Amino acid sequence: MEKTLLIQAKNPPGWRRRLLLFLKLSQSIWFSPEHEKIEKNYSKGIRNVMELEERGCLVLYGVDAKQMSHHFFLKTQRFNRIIYNFPHVGFLYPEDSCCQIQMNKTLVKEFLKNAKALLRKEDGEIHISHKEGDPYDRWNLVKKAEKIGLLLHEIVPFRKDDYPGYENKRAHGSNADAPFPLGDSSTYIFRVSSHSL
Ligand SMILES: C[S@@+](CC[C@H](N)C(=O)[O-])C[C@H]1O[C@@H](n2cnc3c(N)ncnc32)[C@H](O)[C@@H]1O
Repeated sequence: MEKTLLIQAKNPPGWRRRLLLFLKLSQSIWFSPEHEKIEKNYSKGIRNVMELEERGCLVLYGVDAKQMSHHFFLKTQRFNRIIYNFPHVGFLYPEDSCCQIQMNKTLVKEFLKNAKALLRKEDGEIHISHKEGDPYDRWNLVKKAEKIGLLLHEIVPFRKDDYPGYENKRAHGSNADAPFPLGDSSTYIFRVSSHSL
């Protein structure tokens, strides 16, 4: 059976029709914030979680993407697809400051390491959607992935319309339910490099 791990992280799932059609055919696990935070911060959060659960998805709460390969349940699983849209630690410093970039780079690096450990090596893919341009290019996604033994397979333009019902969320601060400007964004698709198998 196909298995997908979707890191919606501390943000409730907002992807709908297309993914849900896909989910009917697969076994999926979603990450979500703690239940109380969903209710407090996101107008459609609880409804979305319920819909996912009704469709047979498993929703895990409060999992740290930087340590997920040690999670008591996840560590027993292997996934075909591990998807994280717009990883970001939240605004602790200005977006283009070294400290902020460093923290975001650490999040991506640790996520990739953990995702690689949970991936089916033969045919698994890790998808990261990410904004293009400065300062986002300075996160050096592809170089980070290569150091971990992951190879860039493809970069595809990220189009929100490809995911009917998907609502990107700031997920931080008093305006967590609001969208952030997507601008020019892409999905980076990584596979395990052959010398790492
Ligand atoms: C810019 S928001 C994107 C939210 C959502 N994926 C979307 O596409 O709208 C970044 C997300 O990463 C989450 N995040 C940051 N650090 C995390 C960690 N260590 N483990 C899990 N999620 C994390 C934040 O809580 C937030 O939900």
